[in-house]
Amino acid sequence: MDATGSRRLGCVIWFGQPEAQECSGLTEAGWNVRVAGGDVCVKVREGGGMVALADLRQGDAHLLQAMQQLMTDCPSVPWIALIPLDMPARRPQVKRILQGCRDFFSAPLDLPRLLVALEQAAGIPSRGAEVATDLPELVGRSAPVAAVVASLRKYAPIDLPVLITGETGVGKEVAARVLHRLSIRAMQPFVAINCGALPPNLVQSELFGHERGAFTGATARRIGHIESAAGGTILLDEVGDLPLDAQINLLRFLQEGVLQRVGNSRSVEVDVRVMAATHLDLEHAVAAGRFREDLYYRLNVLRLQIPPLRERGDDVDLLAHRFLERFRARQVCAASGFESVALRAMHRYPWPGNVRELRNRVQRAAVMAEGPLISATDLALPGDTEERDLPAVTSLGVFRASAEREVIAACLRECRFNISECARRLQVSRVTMYRLCKKYQLELRAP
Ligand SMILES: Nc1ncnc2c1ncn2[C@@H]1O[C@H](COP(=O)(O)OP(=O)(O)O)[C@@H](O)[C@H]1O
Ligand SMILES: [Mg+2]
Repeated sequence: MDATGSRRLGCVIWFGQPEAQECSGLTEAGWNVRVAGGDVCVKVREGGGMVALADLRQGDAHLLQAMQQLMTDCPSVPWIALIPLDMPARRPQVKRILQGCRDFFSAPLDLPRLLVALEQAAGIPSRGAEVATDLPELVGRSAPVAAVVASLRKYAPIDLPVLITGETGVGKEVAARVLHRLSIRAMQPFVAINCGALPPNLVQSELFGHERGAFTGATARRIGHIESAAGGTILLDEVGDLPLDAQINLLRFLQEGVLQRVGNSRSVEVDVRVMAATHLDLEHAVAAGRFREDLYYRLNVLRLQIPPLRERGDDVDLLAHRFLERFRARQVCAASGFESVALRAMHRYPWPGNVRELRNRVQRAAVMAEGPLISATDLALPGDTEERDLPAVTSLGVFRASAEREVIAACLRECRFNISECARRLQVSRVTMYRLCKKYQLELRAP
């Protein structure tokens, strides 16, 4: 603090042209801003609360050169980039600069978030701004979630594949979206496809595209999902469900960065970051010969394991309240909180469907509840006394498996054994549905 009581944080070297209110916002927060334009030379001391901001909105060649020089001369100065919507991310010079940056912001600038990022980059202890504040889509404060957030921040800027594993409903897609948003590709498309939901005979053309006349019914050329994510990120969800022939082509794409549309032998170069998600044990699938080992190694470069909800302690309360809040913002609803019995019931329950199941139960309970507080009955969970009547189950694994079996069996009955409908309701692919039925020895039609 200085004599006037304001904080003195350090110096931001702004490469580019800040707008007047951007400059004053930083100054008011306690930063000393120095603007480095085209041929202006700045003397930079390493350390000492200095942060460089690469403002790529103008894309001036002189400026890019000056930035690159400073990055080489002073490798310990942290960089943050401000990128325009239509940034030519593939220009080698721009790409190199972005790879040296800690964090990215798209125009228009979110000043409060930039202030948090600057303080983090300069190593200034935060004023209580939580990690969660700048990852609004990922709710949670438990230690296992904090570890996931730390990995997300570490992996986001690295342009390599990520394999995301975890049970169904834990937030694998949420994590992939965060990785994309925090990466240099943030302004480019994010495409998520469920490999298990693709019709088996069309997997190749869905992924890689096809030419007109490539097969019966191909009346026009179609770009595949991978090409439609050009410049951005593709998430191959339930990658374990990919048929072996598509696995070969995916491997080739990962190795060489080129693909061939069905019906055309010409190779097309496509720049896409591949992420894959699976709730299966891929190592097991490799051992059983259902998944190519070489593809597994290509995908499993950076690994992100998302913990199940039952291991996240008080995050259950946090998420339940957040889902109720969101529901209340959109619908008329009497309930504004939870009875303590309901909260205890949620803590005891093993959540086989994880966060997705929690969200669905809270939404249904919000509709059912007639008073201001949601009860365990509204959530369709056993209350304190009913719980004691349950047979003693010592192993959580056994309880979890039996709970998952029950959830699936009940859903099958509700859908009158219509597999597609049941898969839709449980938000899994049909392939997964068949696999689960086999695993739990469930009949596929009414007994
Ligand atoms: N940490 C979280 N905070 C808020 N919502 C979450 C979180 N994790 C998952 N969700 C929500 O739960 C649902 C399932 O998440 P999803 O990423 O599709 O799971 P998965 O891909 O692992 O099956 C989505 O509606 C998602 O928004
Ligand atoms: Mg998913």
